Amino acid sequence: MNEQQKKQMTINIEPSSADKKSEQKNKDFGQYFQTTYTQPSLKDAKRRGKEDVQVHYDFDIPEEMRGLGNGKKFLVRTYGCQMNEHDSENMAGILLDMGFEPTSSTEDADVILLNTCAIRENAENKVFGEIGHLKPLKIEKPGLVIGVCGCMSQEESVVNRILKKHQHVDLIFGTHNIHRLPHLLKDAIFNKEMVVEVWSKEGDIIENMPRARRGQLQGWVNIMYGCDKFCTYCIVPYTRGKERSRLPEDIIAEVRDLARLGYKDITLLGQNVNAYGKDFADVNYGLGDLMNEIRKIDIPRIRFTTSHPRDFDDHLIEVLAQGGNLVEHIHLPVQSGNTEILKLMARKYTREQYVELANKIKEKVPNATLTTDIIVGFPNETEEQFQDTLSLMKEIEYDSAYSYIYSPREGTPAAKMEDNVPLEVKRDRLQRLNDVINELSAMKNKQLEGTIVEVLVEGESKKNPDILSGRTRTNKLVNFAGDRSIIGEIVHVKIIEAKTWSLNGQVVENAEVKA
Ligand code: 5AD
Ligand code: SF4
Repeated sequence: MNEQQKKQMTINIEPSSADKKSEQKNKDFGQYFQTTYTQPSLKDAKRRGKEDVQVHYDFDIPEEMRGLGNGKKFLVRTYGCQMNEHDSENMAGILLDMGFEPTSSTEDADVILLNTCAIRENAENKVFGEIGHLKPLKIEKPGLVIGVCGCMSQEESVVNRILKKHQHVDLIFGTHNIHRLPHLLKDAIFNKEMVVEVWSKEGDIIENMPRARRGQLQGWVNIMYGCDKFCTYCIVPYTRGKERSRLPEDIIAEVRDLARLGYKDITLLGQNVNAYGKDFADVNYGLGDLMNEIRKIDIPRIRFTTSHPRDFDDHLIEVLAQGGNLVEHIHLPVQSGNTEILKLMARKYTREQYVELANKIKEKVPNATLTTDIIVGFPNETEEQFQDTLSLMKEIEYDSAYSYIYSPREGTPAAKMEDNVPLEVKRDRLQRLNDVINELSAMKNKQLEGTIVEVLVEGESKKNPDILSGRTRTNKLVNFAGDRSIIGEIVHVKIIEAKTWSLNGQVVENAEVKA
């Protein structure tokens, strides 16, 4: 840790016990904390310096912390994206190495970590609701450690709110210091004071942290961290630091390990994977080059997320066109179908450029399936501009899409824009957009009726244990009758019936896959 980080690391937030906490309810905590606590700063988080990214290979849990969890249980509750899910796997790995055992029950847990998402207000509200629900448990069991981590912890307003209103929280840490968890937890357990450590920095890369992966078939591999795109609505560049790529050899070694362990479906993760390698000073090596190497590894399915259309280059398309284990599913968030709105969002492409890219992908990559993200009700979005989004959906014929109502995020440029669109209008637009998404999804699924698809069998269907379910290469859910012995295998399934969000089929042997 460098000197600046040390300075930012501030602990000793009183009060220390539940009793003291209730007594101090009426104090002016705002003033008090300003003198003892360096809060996360969105302004500092925005800085993009010139200094090199440090890659650390020396992660270790000190001996005295290894037994700290013996006889105790942990629960990590995750909100938000796959990046967060994967971070939770790191936290779980660290906690297991410290001797803790996992539990899914809050009542049984000695440590509860809420790994939070800051992307929309409703995501944050859910977390604050959960923090409130945990209070009676903390009063009942004062030794319980409640921690809040992830993207919300990187926001100063969130940290202040927890400090003032949720004093039963014991630990707050951010996205840049997950590797500090053993030390922070030790402080939280022994000091009985609220431990707060959030680094508003651009970020380093910490290799070889332990990881407890949730699945045995599907695995995530980080290829890069952070985001430098600064779309005007988005909090991520502030909560996750600057774009920094893992070295290809580290990524390839991890994918090879997963192949050896029998994983069948790998998702390469980054907030903006198409910027992979742009931060390497001395080599010209991008996502296309990386995919070209990874496709040679003996693993049946490789995918990546999330793409930014601006950096999606021809070399990557050429590599993806070779198919094989590189799946033909591309998640390509567009956000809006209107060029003026895209400009206000600072997406750095026009509708026409996006359509051109999508068409190129469809032309070059056989059976390419596109999915997307859409925001409706961006400040001052007119009905006409919204209509452009609807028409783009139909033009591209997405297989599915995630749709959201715009949510102002403090500290982002869009949050300062005046907005004349009432919430009812935004809700109505979301409904109309979802109708189109569902129609397209049903239509796309219908086209698969009668075809034979490759399915990775994941397990019993959630609704009916006599039915198995799995995913196509393009991530569509397929339900079919079959023996449990094929769980974990890739089988061929003939699609008999298409539903809006899933497919029903029958296993066929030795079939030639057409779709
Ligand atoms: N409001 C609504 N949706 C947002 N997203 C990102 N920021 C916001 C926001 N402020 C959506 C985008 C992104 C997805 C992960 O979340 O569509 O692609
Ligand atoms: Fe949420 Fe974005 Fe953070 Fe993921 S990176 S948890 S989507 S704010």
